[in-house]
Amino acid sequence: MSVVTVEKEVGASLVEEVDRLREEKNAVILAHYYQEPEIQDIADHVGDSLELARWAAETTADVIVFAGVKFMAETAKILNPQKKVLLPDMEAGCSLSDGCPPSEFRKFLDEHPGHVVVTYVNCSVEVKAMSDYICTSSNAEMVIDSIPKERPIIFAPDQNLGKYLIRKTGRQMVLWEGSCMVHEAFSIDKLLKLHAEHPDAEIIAHPESEQHVLKVAGFIGSTAGMIRHVNSSKAEKFIVATEAGILHRMQKDVPEKLLIPAPAAEENTCSCSECGFMKMNTMEKLYRCLKDERPEVVLDEDLRKQALVPMLRCLEFKPKP
Ligand code: 13P
Ligand code: SF4
Repeated sequence: MSVVTVEKEVGASLVEEVDRLREEKNAVILAHYYQEPEIQDIADHVGDSLELARWAAETTADVIVFAGVKFMAETAKILNPQKKVLLPDMEAGCSLSDGCPPSEFRKFLDEHPGHVVVTYVNCSVEVKAMSDYICTSSNAEMVIDSIPKERPIIFAPDQNLGKYLIRKTGRQMVLWEGSCMVHEAFSIDKLLKLHAEHPDAEIIAHPESEQHVLKVAGFIGSTAGMIRHVNSSKAEKFIVATEAGILHRMQKDVPEKLLIPAPAAEENTCSCSECGFMKMNTMEKLYRCLKDERPEVVLDEDLRKQALVPMLRCLEFKPKP
């Protein structure tokens, strides 16, 4: 259904109607930096995975509308089960989460007994429930550093973040071989060519990127970390190696700076890399889910309680502002 059709139906603009419903239902809208600009603009909070998890845990709203992907909405429900958690499109998955099926992960853990299990938050509630610690890209290094040196570690499901952490922490870890299809889509050849055209630009990258991209990056960090970096850095130009939705917020913060999205290997309309799962959410779906209060995230209570333990440990690790 188009925006125009919905607006005709409700007799108001979609933005006004979402505002009205949000107030009527005491709802909060949380959006990730990879969401469409119009969704970011209407959200109560826009953040990275860790910030969104914290807001979800602390909110006093009755309803949480999660403009992100399924594992993020599940995380909100794990942390705040009394709230009704809605996701505009339940098909909004994630290649990392989908690439780590719980039954395979169970076998993997059985093959490596005695390991501390650290999982990146981009995984299902079942995988979270099998973990000792959950981390996000904002606090992964702190989590690994907190584990006694003699303890062997399994890190899943992102092998790129895992390899980066091995380099940063000096810890050997057994890695699950998953990856983010968005961050693996960058072309190193095109990136180097672009950098040669803009030698004064700093390359900044998300740690889900492949090692050859991270090696040429001047700064590596989570989405929130990358935004803070462009704000504080003296550089005037950046090549940004993460999902292109981040550019909306970044450019608002630093309108005077030049932000260039890192190029994807495949020719596409944006010459960048976009997450098809994140982009499944639209303003119309957001409006419908707030109005109808579905699709709703519902979790098995035993599973939720098991997943809560490592998730609460994750929130204890606060990255420096
Ligand atoms: P962060 O927002 O935590 O950096 O994660 C990026 C990401 O890929 C979320 O799916
Ligand atoms: Fe998953 Fe990558 Fe999309 Fe994030 S950007 S939701 S890690 S597929």
